[in-house]
Amino acid sequence: MIFLNKPEITDNEVTDYSVYKKRRQFMKTAAGLGIVATTGAVIKPLFSQSNSSSFSTDEEKTDYKDITRYCNFYEFGTAKTDPAKNAHTLVTSPWTIDIEGECDKPGTYDLEDLLKPVSIEERIYRFRCVEGWSMVIPWMGFPLAELIKRMQPNANAKYVKFQTLYDPDMMPGQRDNVLEWPYVEGLRMDEAMHPLTMIATGIYGKDLLNQNGAPLRLVVPWKYGFKSIKSIASISFTETQPYNSWQQSSPTEYGFYSNVNPDVPHPRWSQSKERRIGEFLKRKTQPFNGYASEVASLYKGMDLKRYF
Ligand code: MTE
Repeated sequence: MIFLNKPEITDNEVTDYSVYKKRRQFMKTAAGLGIVATTGAVIKPLFSQSNSSSFSTDEEKTDYKDITRYCNFYEFGTAKTDPAKNAHTLVTSPWTIDIEGECDKPGTYDLEDLLKPVSIEERIYRFRCVEGWSMVIPWMGFPLAELIKRMQPNANAKYVKFQTLYDPDMMPGQRDNVLEWPYVEGLRMDEAMHPLTMIATGIYGKDLLNQNGAPLRLVVPWKYGFKSIKSIASISFTETQPYNSWQQSSPTEYGFYSNVNPDVPHPRWSQSKERRIGEFLKRKTQPFNGYASEVASLYKGMDLKRYF
């Protein structure tokens, strides 16, 4: 398999999703017609998304090939290299998302319609897996809060529940009972509305590859990576706390909150250090993955050992 080189992202422009999509379509057509080389001026705007988000880290970004080859996506196998090999069976266009539960705008939305009004920007976030490895990923996407506001949740909406597609033909790993399917995740409403929480549609200026959760996934940078559910097919506003897949599979090991916490070990290993993919020596894990000043107040007064 051939992986693309990192594009140089230099502009500070935020690109409206529909403009971004049209440019992508133009580029595909242009590439097909062999005119890309003569339209250099057009190539740059395709990748012109902001890299100056105040939320972005300036830590060294993980290589594109590591982000796209070293994956967890159990719907396509349990080995890290399985998703890159197997996820081609997932058809991501057309794609619909069911909006359900305690809100005024429920319905089945085409992805294009759902994303039309949003502005796609780049945010470089640290990403910490519960298994002890970490990456720095330049996501393309937008704040989840923008989408939630449009769906007008009512006063009963205390949580947001996300589900991945359930389709064992397209996701053959769903025939194995390693987890209950479909994959489920959830956030408390204030976590979901937090400006750091994003819906990602791309990485390094390109659309998400299937193995990374195309066409859209959640990214919650202060929580362990399993909260960042891939290939979202339904979003539901609930009064009660959702039971997420990993909690269901092993409730003593994985909780609902799953905030990155070096002081609360996993029952089978320490969480005090992490290995940044591409580095040799381990580094110390930061409380809330380094986002404590932004998010610690959400958990004021909570015993984080109990609510792990
Ligand atoms: N989403 C779905 N639908 N299925 C999964 O198996 N794995 C989770 C999360 N989202 C998973 C998922 C886990 S355990 C991690 S660490 C991250 O995706 C990995 O994201 P990445 O492969 O893009 O690094």
